[in-house]
Amino acid sequence: MERTLSLIKPDGVSRNLIGEVIRFFEKAGLKVVALKMLRLTKEEAKQFYIVHKERPFYDSLTDYMSSGPIVAMVLEGENAIARCREIMGATDPAEAAEGTIRKTFGLDKEKNTVHGSDSPESAAREIAFFFSELDLISGTR
Ligand code: TYD
Repeated sequence: MERTLSLIKPDGVSRNLIGEVIRFFEKAGLKVVALKMLRLTKEEAKQFYIVHKERPFYDSLTDYMSSGPIVAMVLEGENAIARCREIMGATDPAEAAEGTIRKTFGLDKEKNTVHGSDSPESAAREIAFFFSELDLISGTR
């Protein structure tokens, strides 16, 4: 069993897509083992995306990610990290495969509706960023 961190970004929450996005993950057999809604400050968004701090899109991305409420969740399942990313689709919705979340709902490369951890190391860091061990329901559902 593996865990990954997924976020429904402000464009997903503001367009009432919370249920739809979670449906994509649940349909694929991933289990939600922690879930919450929150709004990041600009500083928190900068910390979360710190690996991108030298990239040209960092300031715009962190403005956007702190612009409204998001939903954070931990998904659990076999190969959860890779499967979550498959279900999300490519970063740019225009390049994402048919049937993926980003192809279906994404607006552009920045407002692409969802985030998913890209490695076991980032999953561990990102889960701990939003949740404590006590928040995780794992094993009992
Ligand atoms: P990245 O880690 O490359 O993609 P993914 O989310 O698919 O793992 O980039 C992180 C986020 O940064 C991405 O979801 C949206 C934003 N971003 C931009 O705004 N512009 C860009 O050109 C890229 C590559 C990413």
